[in-house]
Amino acid sequence: MKLFNLITQLSLLLTIWLSTQTVGACVSAKAANYVRRMITKDRVVIFSKTYCYYSDLAKEQFNKLNVPFVAIELDEREDGRVIQSILEEMTGSSTVPRVYIDGEFIGGGTDVFKLNKSGKLKEMLHIQK
Ligand SMILES: *[C@@H]1O[C@H](CO)[C@@H](O)[C@H](O)[C@H]1NC(C)=O
Repeated sequence: MKLFNLITQLSLLLTIWLSTQTVGACVSAKAANYVRRMITKDRVVIFSKTYCYYSDLAKEQFNKLNVPFVAIELDEREDGRVIQSILEEMTGSSTVPRVYIDGEFIGGGTDVFKLNKSGKLKEMLHIQK
């Protein structure tokens, strides 16, 4: 009886642990299409986490340029983990932020910071001057 309980406990823990791991490489085409729609629906899309410094850094660049953006906060969504694993497949990294302009991946927080500094961000956004 004791052993049975232990096994039950262990399998419960294993289930919980598995559910906290990133979703495997084979994400459904449906979920991937969903992310594709997200990145093409709005001009600037930032996959972000609310507590992430680098996400804030990316947002700050667009705010300073008065460019509106859509932030998808992965830590506030049920499907955040799935989206993050799709982004990993698409960009080669599961870190946040993942920043898209016109449906194209342009990088993470420091990338956006550098793009601004060099003036390239403005070019990408077709901002004059
Ligand atoms: C973006 O780059 C410009 C020019 O280098 C700089 O003045 C500005 O402070 C930068 N914006 C941010 C938010 O760092």
